[in-house]
Amino acid sequence: MATNLDKVFQGFSKLSYPERLRVLSRAGLLAEESAEYLQEGGLKDISLGEKFIENVIGYFQIPLGVAVHFRIDQRDRLIPMAVEETSIVAAASKTAKWIREKGRIETSCKGQDIIGQIQFAKVQDFQRLQKTVHAFGREWMDLANREVAFGLVQRGGGVTSLNLRSMIRPDGLTMAVLHVHMNPCDAMGANVINQVCEFLKGPIEDASGEKITMCILSNLVDTKITEATITLNEISAELAEKIEEASLFAELDPYRAATNNKGVLNGIDPILIATGNDWRAVEAGVHAYACRSGQYRSITRWRREGHQLVGTLQAPLVVGTVGGVTTLHPTASLCMRLLEVSSANDLSRVLAAAGLVQNLGALRALVTDGIIEGHMRLHLKNLTLGAGAREQEIPILQKKLEEILTLRKRISLSHAVEALREMRSQDARRTENISP
Ligand code: MEV
Repeated sequence: MATNLDKVFQGFSKLSYPERLRVLSRAGLLAEESAEYLQEGGLKDISLGEKFIENVIGYFQIPLGVAVHFRIDQRDRLIPMAVEETSIVAAASKTAKWIREKGRIETSCKGQDIIGQIQFAKVQDFQRLQKTVHAFGREWMDLANREVAFGLVQRGGGVTSLNLRSMIRPDGLTMAVLHVHMNPCDAMGANVINQVCEFLKGPIEDASGEKITMCILSNLVDTKITEATITLNEISAELAEKIEEASLFAELDPYRAATNNKGVLNGIDPILIATGNDWRAVEAGVHAYACRSGQYRSITRWRREGHQLVGTLQAPLVVGTVGGVTTLHPTASLCMRLLEVSSANDLSRVLAAAGLVQNLGALRALVTDGIIEGHMRLHLKNLTLGAGAREQEIPILQKKLEEILTLRKRISLSHAVEALREMRSQDARRTENISP
């Protein structure tokens, strides 16, 4: 594999589709059979779909692209993104290029455990339960590690600690919740933690005399937080100030925070989908974490530090690199190969970096040209298709729409329909004039 991917991917967006696949193959990122598989339209055999869900009637396909120019923790990375929204891949690549020229991206993971919850809906005696957890906790964890999480224990993970919490119910009774913390290694760990909690139900009920009502993992994994930091040097003071102000807006106002975080997730969800990870779980965790102060806030923050602009992202981004769809779906395995991630934490760090890069790209556009300019320029081809342009009409109509956009600063499908009608009637008049 080429270590300097930036050179390899210069001008990538200008290449034809077969040329793009050839570049990936030559860089050692795509096996020949994977390139053929993509060119033939990807997954067709319905039997895999039947394994995943019920009542299957087919596959739903969305575009798979690669964002280029990323350098994360001093290593070049190619980022596969499965997404339908115009401009996400382009904005990620463009912003990554800017950062590569002006600064750096650094990432880290803090903590390792995911959380399982065991609920006692109406605890009879919370203090007695506390004492029982204290006396038997070690024994329960050893049992769960021996009987359920033994695969994780062999890989250096497994159940690590317990934490008992209490809540007062609206009717004045007390609810207790026992948190089971577990290091899932390179798995997302959902199945194992759920099995651990259900397995512990019997021993805990026997020892405590309390009734357990339900067991399930929590998606608010504040015990395992991934961080990304972007440092930009020599950025114009005016732009840096505007980005800081945009950040303050999202830190203070939940209405803006929701849109800011949607933009961050524009960078994260497409990678989750491409790698077969549970994006609903990550979304739920990110939004819950964004509310941890009691108000929904931005998960990113941008500040001027001297001549630098420094951005940070913190979020629970719990993913797996083994098992499930990631291993079984050929497109997901192919994307894992493109990414060359070495562990679940490594993938999580790439996600954090991509989310923060996407956020920077959006903020930069919002505080300069506005989002419409760049977004609509890339959306013009969709408008030509929406208006019903034929293959040979598309480039001419696209050019006309570019002119309209430059002139009026806005564009819609009705402009495309109108421009196409005009183009066709001009063509018809030209044909009439030259026919004998
Ligand atoms: C659009 O998909 C995402 C943005 O709205 C994000 C943002 O406002 O920060 C542009």
